Amino acid sequence: MVELIYGSARASNIEYAIRDVVVPAIELEKQGHEIIRLNIGDPLAFEGLKTPKNMVDAYTEALKMQRNGYGPSYGIPELRKTIAKSEKEKGWNCSEDDVYITHGVTEALQVIFAAFLEKGDKVLAPGPHYPPYLAYPQMFGASTIEYRLNSDEGWKIDINDIKSKMDEKVKLLVLINPNNPTGNVASEEQVSELIEIASNYPKCTIISDEIYDGLDFSDSFKSTASISPKSPVITLNGVSKVFFAPGWRIGYMAWHDPKNQLSHVRDGVERLLRSRLCASSPAQFGYLAGIQGSKESLKENYSRILRRLDYSMKRISDINGIECHRPGGAFYLFVKITNSIYSNDDKKFVLDLLHKKHVLVVHGSGFSPEFGKGHFRMVCLPSIEVLKEAFNRIDEFLNS
Ligand SMILES: Cc1ncc(COP(=O)(O)O)c(C=O)c1O
Repeated sequence: MVELIYGSARASNIEYAIRDVVVPAIELEKQGHEIIRLNIGDPLAFEGLKTPKNMVDAYTEALKMQRNGYGPSYGIPELRKTIAKSEKEKGWNCSEDDVYITHGVTEALQVIFAAFLEKGDKVLAPGPHYPPYLAYPQMFGASTIEYRLNSDEGWKIDINDIKSKMDEKVKLLVLINPNNPTGNVASEEQVSELIEIASNYPKCTIISDEIYDGLDFSDSFKSTASISPKSPVITLNGVSKVFFAPGWRIGYMAWHDPKNQLSHVRDGVERLLRSRLCASSPAQFGYLAGIQGSKESLKENYSRILRRLDYSMKRISDINGIECHRPGGAFYLFVKITNSIYSNDDKKFVLDLLHKKHVLVVHGSGFSPEFGKGHFRMVCLPSIEVLKEAFNRIDEFLNS
């Protein structure tokens, strides 16, 4: 029988490096090999990192109380109000009507791209970046252009590169702060410079993805909306990273539109949100408890991650063939491959390391073909014991 080939090019172009590398790893696991997985930014996959008990209790309680119905499309009012208060504490005038609850930041991105982008539009995003910023805009006939994060300066934003790439077609200028995959935390001065550039383009909105804001070990994070007097900023955040509950799939977008430029596009966003009904109701109660309750167990998680980061940095500095800037935040290491065999082929590095030593990391070019190549990303989330074994294997792979 002749197989009919049909379906959209939109979907067949989608790539997600972080999970794509899992395919060969699963093959090896089927053959009985144990793989040390350092590919995915899910803290829950690692020892000692847990969703806080008060959040789990609130989620469970919501289930028991039969709060299992459809909720309001923009989110339950108490959660919207509480998030608005926490954004206000970060320094800008956020009201509960500015907050929309979504199934994670990822759903917020899909809605934003659908509402903002027309054929031929551009999204200007950092290179390297979290992959959906490249994958989704093309589904709407738009394209993503990358601005450079400078690897020689700890992945600092190259402001001149942004300037040179801005034009009237750039509808969204993206800042990921702290950044995935580099861990760079932008200084207030850099964020202001980026805002200043955007303010010269009336049709440009800033997307500020702040999903790692509570994991800022450099103490230099500043909310973008809080220092943008004119330009519109949509802040993205959620429960996945800072609150250690990525499987709940809850996040939000908070709209800062000081000159009321976005009412038309906001109407489109609201229509899209209504048409997809609502985000998970019981999970929203869990998130609410997290924001309102004690932060003790979160602090324990942060200290554990910091110890693991310190250990990882020490080990990397002792291994010939790799080097890494210390990240200011998040929980990733974006490691430069200096080994001469692999420095020009990060994908081969990842596949050879996987097949020979059973350690799974992600090729840097999966986060940016141009600015991520020659690197790999790993998480520093596992216990020190697991990290020790992983680094021993990486060292053997490169040096024996
Ligand atoms: C920068 C960034 N934004 C968003 C997400 C996904 O967020 P969510 O789980 O809320 O969809 C990730 C996940 O790794 C990320 O790194």
